[in-house]
Amino acid sequence: MSTEDRSSIDRERWEAVAASYAATVGGPADSFFRRFAPLLDEELGDPAGMDVWDLGCGHGWLSGLLAAGGARVTGVDGSAELIRAARRSYPGIEFEVRDLAVDVAVERDAFDAVVCHMVLMDLPVLDPVVAAVARSLRPGGRFVFTILHPAFFQQQPSPSDSPPPWSRSVTGYLEPAERWVESFGGHRHYHRPLEQYVDALFRHGLLVRRLVEPPTLPHHERTEEQWSDYERWFATIPTMVAVSAVKPPA
Ligand SMILES: C[S@@+](CC[C@H](N)C(=O)[O-])C[C@H]1O[C@@H](n2cnc3c(N)ncnc32)[C@H](O)[C@@H]1O
Repeated sequence: MSTEDRSSIDRERWEAVAASYAATVGGPADSFFRRFAPLLDEELGDPAGMDVWDLGCGHGWLSGLLAAGGARVTGVDGSAELIRAARRSYPGIEFEVRDLAVDVAVERDAFDAVVCHMVLMDLPVLDPVVAAVARSLRPGGRFVFTILHPAFFQQQPSPSDSPPPWSRSVTGYLEPAERWVESFGGHRHYHRPLEQYVDALFRHGLLVRRLVEPPTLPHHERTEEQWSDYERWFATIPTMVAVSAVKPPA
């Protein structure tokens, strides 16, 4: 099957789950965003006046946060339904429907920063989007992204009611694979080892500055002192990776 066909099936799936996704995910309290926010803040600094591309923006909440900080944001997503929701919530921001696996033409040196939160592991190929990021960034500009941690996210943890010692069993890590993920009503996930992400950045001239593996936070809001022993153990195995890469000055 061609990349276009595969990607179009994946996008139809996102279309089908758009409403439930938009109703349950996003915003400053989101457990994935709480893990991403420190690196994003450190790498972007004050976004005021920056041109920022939000790739795979979903219903636009991160674009909205960056725009509230004074950035000029363009959000792009493959789901027309999510983009409609983004336009409704943030009428002042430019949003576009595009397929990031195939349709990523972009002007050279158009953005100071590109953000891409929890999207790349949902794309069948990385090269078109990473090439576009490299082209679109101004020299010195940052590409800050997150993915589900390919080593640990899908590995089955011990059940919370089992006695310690707890573990996650890691298997098949080096083998790229298509997997079905049940989150948000179900969608396709493209497992690839971390080195493939770094290779794609390297091939397109982007240099990794930071790679952060934040502890896995419980979904509910409680201070660390209130976590159970199981939650404290669960936090020691990261289910998300956040990366910042830079386009070197010319
Ligand atoms: C896990 S969601 C993340 C959305 C958003 N960044 C957020 O944090 O809420 C993955 C997003 O990738 C988008 N997506 C999946 N495949 C895509 C493709 N081929 N082209 C563009 N967007 C795609 C989906 O529509 C969805 O909005």
